Amino acid sequence: MVASNYERTIMTIHEIFTTLANRMVGAIMIHTQLAQLFAYVDLMPDARRQESQLQEETHGYSELNKYYTQHHHSIVISDDPPQIDILNMGILKKPNYELSPDDKVRIIKYGINEWVEWERQSKIIYEDAYKNLIDISEVATADFVSRYVRDVDQELGDAERLYRVRDAIDWDLPTIYDKQARFKK
Ligand SMILES: [Fe+2]
Repeated sequence: MVASNYERTIMTIHEIFTTLANRMVGAIMIHTQLAQLFAYVDLMPDARRQESQLQEETHGYSELNKYYTQHHHSIVISDDPPQIDILNMGILKKPNYELSPDDKVRIIKYGINEWVEWERQSKIIYEDAYKNLIDISEVATADFVSRYVRDVDQELGDAERLYRVRDAIDWDLPTIYDKQARFKK
């Protein structure tokens, strides 16, 4: 379950960057937890994909902070990041060797669905930040933020495609694990 404290309002530039910083700290946490979740069911390429997103988004957060300081002369602080607790799903308390095939399907489907829903919400937040910056005539800063809109749009497309592909094979575990086995560990 992913909690979000976000609501759309007209914001100052500092408030816009604080909102972005909060979301990015949440993104770092969700990709960390999704990597743990996929590793738990031995889907290592899926876990590594989350680790790769974690690195990209950590870099993106660092760039956001640097831009704000260089162009707006102060520090942005993530003061209220969303609480990410996807690993609190009851079934994840079991040792993974006790998981049944149905348990694994539930976990895999749940993880990918959480990823899709997170990126959908992130896209709304980043687009709103962009529109808000245009509204307050911060055009250059809006242009900087547009990179995050493009990145999240791409990532959402990838996450939705993964969900559709697995749904198309009705979450058939032998097929999912066979495809994964073709990748290096
Ligand atoms: Fe992401």
